[in-house]
Amino acid sequence: MTTDTFPRDFLWGVASSAYQIEGAWNEDSKGESIWDSFLHDRKMQNADVSCDNYHRFKEDIALMKHLGVKAYRFSMSWPRIIPDGTGSINQKGLDFYKRLVDGLHETGIVPVATLYHWDLPQRLEENGGWLNRETASHFENYARILFTEFKDSIPMWITHNEPRVVAYRGYGSGTNAPGVKQERNVLQVIHNLLLSHGLAVRQFRDLGFAGKIGITLNLKPVYPYTDSPEDRKAAELQDIIKNKWFLDPVLKGHYPEVTSTEFQSQYENPDTRPGDLEIISTPSDFLGVNNYSRDLVKFDPDAPLKISRIHPKESSYTSLDWEIYPKGLQDLLVNLGRDYGIDLYVTENGASLDEVKARNGQVHDTVRINYLREHIGATAKAIQDGSPVKGYFVWSLMDNLEWSLGYKHRFGLVHVDFNTLERTVKDSGYFYSRVIADNGINE
Ligand code: FCB
Repeated sequence: MTTDTFPRDFLWGVASSAYQIEGAWNEDSKGESIWDSFLHDRKMQNADVSCDNYHRFKEDIALMKHLGVKAYRFSMSWPRIIPDGTGSINQKGLDFYKRLVDGLHETGIVPVATLYHWDLPQRLEENGGWLNRETASHFENYARILFTEFKDSIPMWITHNEPRVVAYRGYGSGTNAPGVKQERNVLQVIHNLLLSHGLAVRQFRDLGFAGKIGITLNLKPVYPYTDSPEDRKAAELQDIIKNKWFLDPVLKGHYPEVTSTEFQSQYENPDTRPGDLEIISTPSDFLGVNNYSRDLVKFDPDAPLKISRIHPKESSYTSLDWEIYPKGLQDLLVNLGRDYGIDLYVTENGASLDEVKARNGQVHDTVRINYLREHIGATAKAIQDGSPVKGYFVWSLMDNLEWSLGYKHRFGLVHVDFNTLERTVKDSGYFYSRVIADNGINE
């Protein structure tokens, strides 16, 4: 039995996102988002109702209180607040988030708000979405409205969630909304997203509020399969694509240099304007880190970019086939602390399982408990190794719609019955509750 303890003010949280849990997709004058139209058009499982958090947020706050959670990371739906993305504000939408934030404060839970967790107003997509540089200015305006409305009542803001996924899946493979398949242009999408991040941070600084602001990136530690120079080179390129292409512009003010000719011929260089990188690198207060797994890669002359990923047979995997590799989180946090010297928050970490309720109505999710125990342990080790990690958020508070993959893959600490919308705390929820109460792992 090990005891891993954490700094006294460590922020233990849970995470969610608007589209995945709120439901009420067209209520109270909310505008359509790209996820509404993407899933409706394809007749796929959607979040029209999902957890119905829009109507049940008080119950969900009570659940968090019951678990002793210290912070709640949620996102705001841009089309709920500004239905067309630009132009008039929908007061009812804004009021929903005011009630949510007030409810959190009354309960003593710290609100951590993400401005953009993938649900772009559909009207902006009709003008090119994130391929269009103008979307960055609309985002700046949306961010300014929220900063001004909420002032100091939200102490922690996250501009974007995982711009890499938005770019490669939304505009490259087209497997996520808006379903655009323009792989050659993904670097432009990334540039526009990062520009919008910088514009929002600059607004926040100009307005002079006391809170903190940063971006959340999905980062993966990358390891070469062997020590050969070819495998090491493949790992270096993968590290650039997955991590440095986002970290370096935001935290160092430049894009990384890439020598791979395959990379250069696959992706068009983004169109940047003088001053863009200064805006993008406007100093942030922290970096949000979403991490679930690692990449183990080797040189493969027949694969795209000559990189292929290895799935070691001896490893365990979640229901999404993500390798469980806790040491990866430790390495990642230590390396980020060393290379970028900024406060870190693990803003998402967790495991999907294809699980069922037991006869007695409980959910015995021991795989998730082990996953959390090992990853929280890895976070403790990173802190002991000097990494400035200030908080940890489990993805997710409750089961919800896993984007294009529907409701099958459950990530919650709380089980949701999608027929009755009944919530049931899983064994992992009680485990996490004890971790928070003990400020570490005692079991
Ligand atoms: C992340 C997303 C989050 C959730 C988890 C499983 O990429 O930010 O919304 O879907 O994966």
